[in-house]
Amino acid sequence: MHTWLATAAFGLEGLVKQELQALGLDAKAENGGARFEGTLEDAFKANLHLRTADRVLWVLKEEKAATFEALFQVVSSIPWEDILPRNARFPVSGHCARSQLMSISDCQAITKKAIVERLKKKYDTKWFSEDGEEYAVQITLHADIARVTLNTSGEALNRRGYRTWNGEAPLRETLAAAMVMLSPWRMDTPLHDPCCGTGTLLIEAAMIQSRKAPGLNRGFAMEKWQMSPKASMQALRSEAQAQFDPSRIAGISGSDKDPGAIALCRKHIKQAGFERYIQVEEKDLRELSIPQQKIQFLTNPPYGERLGDKKIAEKVYRDLGELVRRHPGSRISLITAHHGFERFFGKKAQKKRRLYNGRLECEFLTY
Ligand SMILES: C[S@@+](CC[C@H](N)C(=O)[O-])C[C@H]1O[C@@H](n2cnc3c(N)ncnc32)[C@H](O)[C@@H]1O
Repeated sequence: MHTWLATAAFGLEGLVKQELQALGLDAKAENGGARFEGTLEDAFKANLHLRTADRVLWVLKEEKAATFEALFQVVSSIPWEDILPRNARFPVSGHCARSQLMSISDCQAITKKAIVERLKKKYDTKWFSEDGEEYAVQITLHADIARVTLNTSGEALNRRGYRTWNGEAPLRETLAAAMVMLSPWRMDTPLHDPCCGTGTLLIEAAMIQSRKAPGLNRGFAMEKWQMSPKASMQALRSEAQAQFDPSRIAGISGSDKDPGAIALCRKHIKQAGFERYIQVEEKDLRELSIPQQKIQFLTNPPYGERLGDKKIAEKVYRDLGELVRRHPGSRISLITAHHGFERFFGKKAQKKRRLYNGRLECEFLTY
């Protein structure tokens, strides 16, 4: 058994814990993520299935280190020779906060040196080519406690493989999944995003409805590691593939007034393999009229953070109020960084929860 930390954006730790528990793992939430004990297979399962976490880190050591010498000893005490093959690439990154050791570049250099010194003895060499698979090491110092971890995920878990990156700032997939999970939508009513932009909320909702593991179309760093149990990881992938049933997707649709956003949204939906299941159209939400009953609206409207945009955002909030009033029996959940939302929408929310969209402190409101 090893210790693993599924890192997450501030505010999502509890959801990550619930997701891990649903995978049968005994997890505890903490600042910045949720921790669990388990095997390499369990860590792989977490990578494959977690929707709201950023990365799964292997916690190799956590110990006090108030001096460089102590840090060197902490890192040297890890049996690196059991983990890193001779040609492993092991870049070291990290950060320091509220500690005596506050120079991250020095801490990274000490960490690297300690690993090299330990490996030199084992491999009887002075030179490491580092041209093999990546084992990304992270050193963090918080209140003088050094934590040494390995990144098992590789690229962050929000990279599901369906997005074309072209500079726009869409909702992160992990936050979009969290919004779907935190909304009252129970999958038996239609779900519509009236400001769907590039489609993140729609695709995440469809992935949840169809039980598609978010990591099914991507790889993870740990899959290439020498020590990883390849056969059982492949079996877990096959199991996840068998669970995926796109025919379960029903009633998910979106609209946006921007034709460019809709074009990109269609592209993402296609790249996610959902073009037969999600309907989107170019439409201003002021003209939107949906015939079905009991619609769950779920959206990420503009916030108006940029100077001059605030009034436009406030107008959208008024229009959202009208939209909900035009659809009796509908509900809406949304995220915004504008603290005056309720005033413009015309009603107090039933539920509020603080979430972060990147660095922006936001509120997730449910009506
Ligand atoms: C913050 S973005 C949504 C981003 C989206 N969640 C994503 O992942 O790409 C807000 C969207 O609201 C749309 N929008 C603004 N006013 C609108 C209106 N009156 N009707 C429909 N869409 C509108 C914008 O075109 C923009 O795509």
